[in-house]
Amino acid sequence: QGRSDYQLPLAGRTVTISAGGTREPLDPVRFLGNRSSGKQGVALAVAARNAGASVRLLAAHMDVPAPAGVEVVTVETALQLREAAVAAAADSDVVIMAAAVADFRPAEISDTKIKKRDDTADPVLALVRNPDILQELVELRGDSRRSQLIVGFAAETGDGNGDVLAYAEAKLERKGCDLLVVNHVGTDKVFGQDTNSVVILARSGSEPQLASGTKSEVASAVITRIGFELNHVSP
Ligand code: CTP
Ligand code: CA
Repeated sequence: QGRSDYQLPLAGRTVTISAGGTREPLDPVRFLGNRSSGKQGVALAVAARNAGASVRLLAAHMDVPAPAGVEVVTVETALQLREAAVAAAADSDVVIMAAAVADFRPAEISDTKIKKRDDTADPVLALVRNPDILQELVELRGDSRRSQLIVGFAAETGDGNGDVLAYAEAKLERKGCDLLVVNHVGTDKVFGQDTNSVVILARSGSEPQLASGTKSEVASAVITRIGFELNHVSP
């Protein structure tokens, strides 16, 4: 209220955000899905909108409604999300991949409902890999859109082979995105919860930044960081 648009950190910027979890169909009534609620992506959309951006929300399955004042593109599968993301990225200043994208999809989708039968063996699911959308967006950005900022999200669990940050650093390197927002996933943390604790890693090599609180507080911290990167770090 009372603030002009030009004072807002993302005024005049177009921000594309993917949210929720993809669903990969097996037959007309079944799918492989995941527990992403869409809450973090929606919180990011709200924070970006409030920061003055024009926001496009690429919504895979979400447990929460899309917020007002953002353009919504609904998708179901990873392949649909890829198409929507590539199209939206073409004129976006920022792309945030907050969606939980299925790494694999059923190799075949049955046109008819899969029946259980006594005369044949039980089915075995064959899966094929989905494209890595985040990595593709980085490749597509190329030289023509060098100033575009691409942000990934990662939920990591530590294990015997390495700690969370080590995995996350490797993922940031592999994906080639500018920022990676890392969640440490415990047994009952993150999915469907309202609070979150993250580390923001930057390819520029600056110190990891901690943010925690409600998903909306985390979203504000991420959007503030994005505004900083756009306005203070020249391409
Ligand atoms: N992502 C994507 N396309 C995929 C898989 C993931 O764009 N097919 C994006 C997610 O939206 C997220 C980031 O990549 O922003 C990291 O996702 P994550 O699942 O942590 O990474 P993966 O490379 O799939 O590695 P992992 O084997 O740990 O699942
Ligand atoms: Ca994955």
